[in-house]
Amino acid sequence: SVIDETSEIRQLEEALAEKLGIARVIIVQGDSDSASWVKQDLCREMVNELDKVLIDGDVIAVNGGTTMAEIAGIAPSNFANGRDLLFVPARGGLGEDLRNQANTICSRLAEKTLTRHRALYVPEQVTESTYRSLLAEPTVRDTLNLLHSANAVLHGIGDAVTMTQRRHSGNNTLEIIKEKQAVGEAFGYYFDEKGNVVYQVPTIGLQLGELTNIPHVFIGAGGKSKAKAIASFVKHAPYHAILFTDEGAAHKLLEG
Ligand code: BG6
Repeated sequence: SVIDETSEIRQLEEALAEKLGIARVIIVQGDSDSASWVKQDLCREMVNELDKVLIDGDVIAVNGGTTMAEIAGIAPSNFANGRDLLFVPARGGLGEDLRNQANTICSRLAEKTLTRHRALYVPEQVTESTYRSLLAEPTVRDTLNLLHSANAVLHGIGDAVTMTQRRHSGNNTLEIIKEKQAVGEAFGYYFDEKGNVVYQVPTIGLQLGELTNIPHVFIGAGGKSKAKAIASFVKHAPYHAILFTDEGAAHKLLEG
């Protein structure tokens, strides 16, 4: 029955939160790998929880990826409900397709919910000196300051190999990723199964260690194929983070 299914999911959520060592896990039915509505459900849960914590004037940092893009896709037009909200990309472009870039997602979110957004136009791989001069740019610094004042951050977790391919990072990166046995990626950091950072793409934006300072950390990642990536990343997530996932990933994570 529906009641049995719901209580079974609640038990899964508690067991998984305990196993991963984070405050809360929210699980939706199904597996994102096999049905696209599952990812949409997962994003709907994220949007619902976000709605509960946002207040007027809040800054929301948003990362890239197909999961975050789905959030922009399902966000309802009445989401702001009178609140002045500002969506800010958590990172610069990471060589992804335009629709999966944080900049695009923030602008779509703002357009759909009649709120505001900022852009962070910085390329993926830059030389050390360019990196330094970009950091000195007033518009870049403004955006970074906004990020540091965010009340919430929404981000995905990528499968390491998928991410290097999607970012067109080149064969060299792929070789490193494989040699170091990276399984997961978030914020440009790649992790092995034990959670060690084994590679990092230097980009401008929110850094992994800064997550602890953000009151609401919402992680969206589902599908059985992402179980390893999720496990590798959560070791770096602050305790107060909430993971939004699905049964496919949850069962796999509890198995291992
Ligand atoms: C990328 C982000 O755009 O998307 C990554 O830069 C993230 O940090 C990835 O891991 C997740 O993508 P998806 O499509 O698996 O949600």
